[in-house]
Amino acid sequence: MADQYAHSGDGDGPAETSENRVTPAIRWEEPPEGPVLVLLDQTRLPAEEVERVCTDPPALVEAIRGLAVRGAPLLGIAGAYGVALAAARGFDVADAAQALAGARPTAVNLSLGVRRARAAHQEALAGGAGEEAAARAALEAARALHRQDAEASARMAAHGLALLDELLPGGGHRVLTHCNTGALVSGGEGTAFAVALAAHRAGRLRRLWVDETRPLLQGARLTAYEAARNGMAYTLLTDSAAGSLFAAGEVDAVLVGADRITADGSVANKIGTYPLAVLARYHHVPLVVVAPVTTVDPDTPDGASVEVEQRGGHEVTELSGPQVPVVGAEAVGGIPVAPLGTQAYNPAFDVTPPELVTAIVTEEGVVSPVTAEALAELCARSRQA
Ligand code: MRU
Repeated sequence: MADQYAHSGDGDGPAETSENRVTPAIRWEEPPEGPVLVLLDQTRLPAEEVERVCTDPPALVEAIRGLAVRGAPLLGIAGAYGVALAAARGFDVADAAQALAGARPTAVNLSLGVRRARAAHQEALAGGAGEEAAARAALEAARALHRQDAEASARMAAHGLALLDELLPGGGHRVLTHCNTGALVSGGEGTAFAVALAAHRAGRLRRLWVDETRPLLQGARLTAYEAARNGMAYTLLTDSAAGSLFAAGEVDAVLVGADRITADGSVANKIGTYPLAVLARYHHVPLVVVAPVTTVDPDTPDGASVEVEQRGGHEVTELSGPQVPVVGAEAVGGIPVAPLGTQAYNPAFDVTPPELVTAIVTEEGVVSPVTAEALAELCARSRQA
């Protein structure tokens, strides 16, 4: 079956390169008019690479809500820079921090990033620093988080590839992934996607199966874009085609990211992850979650305690074309695919229980089996590091 698809979505980039060819998702700039946060607007990909310049925290909150900037690790980085922006531009930092942290509820990284930058700002002020120096301290905290995420990403890729090789000793991995977890969500090369990319560079990725990821198509628009840019052999499928792909024996492993991992090891991730986990278990295929330690949230005890973001029904009842920047917006200009007035159920995330997760790969190592004790130990180790 795989041969049938061998050319169905192969990227046009060079197969053997270790340089990521995806444009960085975020950067801080200081033009004479004042500091700005520049985002690669992810709602416009893959049709065009458009920058979105945020000059104040409300603009960043809007970009976060509308998914111009998205994905757990990147949300943390953006939140931290948002606090730095508030401080540098003379906004009320406490108010800005609250608005930023509350822009989306599920990815724990967002509030963590905001908290880190805010703490640096507060500590500087408490230590007698002036406003300007305190703003610098917040910026340094954001930059440190950005750097740490890049380092974590490289380490996750190495641990993840070693785990894949151990789980699948035959090599030639056929990996299914969901949503988008690459350079577009990270200071580095991402989480789950970074593992697939490492396998590709090592010559051990036979195929990356990319779930389109309804309703906002992060798989089709963003993961396929990253796979193409990096010259990977990939094939796109509708989410509902995954079952028959498993049944045909075409999937060796599932690699996904996470928005929040609770104390008991439950994994909140993009809607559609849980059904994949059920399919994977039924077909005896490992499901591996790849996430930095910053995504583990010891303060959320279990899956039932996770706040799952509910998004507007228009994301389901209408299709937005690549040129129509309506993703996440209230006023829409998409193509209706359901009768006017249709109500839609649109949770952005679901929760996979720990017993369906084969392993969690972090920069500090691999947790398998996934238990509360093993995760607590991982968090403790990471605090000491
Ligand atoms: O709604 P999104 O696009 O922000 O959702 C992103 C995901 O669900 C990712 O899988 C998750 O953040 C992990 S990214 C490393």
